Amino acid sequence: MQKVTLKKAVFPVAGLGTRFLPATKAQPKEMLPVVDKPLIQYAVEEAYAAGIRHMIFVTGRNKRAIEDHFDTAYELETELEAAGKQKLLDLVRSMNPGDMDFSYVRQPRSLGLGHAVLCAEHLVGNEPFAVLLADDLMVGKPAVLAQMAAKFERVQQSILAVQEVPAEQTRRYGIVATEPEVDGLMKVVKMVEKPAPELAPSRMGVAGRYILTPAIFRHIRNQPKGVGGEIQLTDGIVGLMAEESVHAYQYDGKRYDCGSKEGFLEATVELALQHPEVGAYFRNYLENLQIGWSGKERRQSSPMPLAD
Ligand code: G1P
Repeated sequence: MQKVTLKKAVFPVAGLGTRFLPATKAQPKEMLPVVDKPLIQYAVEEAYAAGIRHMIFVTGRNKRAIEDHFDTAYELETELEAAGKQKLLDLVRSMNPGDMDFSYVRQPRSLGLGHAVLCAEHLVGNEPFAVLLADDLMVGKPAVLAQMAAKFERVQQSILAVQEVPAEQTRRYGIVATEPEVDGLMKVVKMVEKPAPELAPSRMGVAGRYILTPAIFRHIRNQPKGVGGEIQLTDGIVGLMAEESVHAYQYDGKRYDCGSKEGFLEATVELALQHPEVGAYFRNYLENLQIGWSGKERRQSSPMPLAD
């Protein structure tokens, strides 16, 4: 068998982000920053770390900021250059190291995750690809998708990232039942989208990272609407399982559900504490934090060093 390497990643970013209104009224939820980087950049960097160089965004109206974010910013770069702000200039340029391709396709209507993936079919073509949901901020070493890509290199079949979820949360996830683990992968034998706890085949929930073979497109195209009246990616994967093995991979890392306010706050606090520039300051701030305001400023926080 000729081994195929993963080259393309699909980022479905057309969602409305209603859980973050009003913040997402006029800006994409994927542009919300965790400390100093928008969610979508974490996901693109993760794909890059997995060796992927072609990033495909399935966008919608109001998502222009994502295209601008990954484009060259001539005006900004000229100003930074003229002001001698080399560090900031390097930072801005590092986002597009020159060996990446970006493609954009629109999902005209919110018909579900499966439909969003199908919108990218002509850009993906007949090769395996990754899907990354930027809402799920994944932290791992190596990067979670890089761990999955290494497994894919060996099996050349679809792989879903999974984690154990609390029983009462099965309704939020695609839930899989699997065979026991062999060489770090578990063969998926059943998959259900967002089941009630009493109907869930296990507590293994799919996190927003997938590596899929191109046969998935045929299944998505021919399937009826699923849960919530949407074209579900999960249902396409169930179809795929009838003709190919699909594996679950329990990743080594941490997932922050940044589609929820709680997860977003957890990510912000934990990544801020680890941030090389503000981490020490923020830890000190939290340790001395007194909540409340009595009408007068009670505490002078230690001054933050000014960035250049
Ligand atoms: C989607 C998928 C679901 C998966 C989840 C991971 O749901 O449909 O199977 O478990 O992402 O975040 P969503 O969160 O878009 O409702």
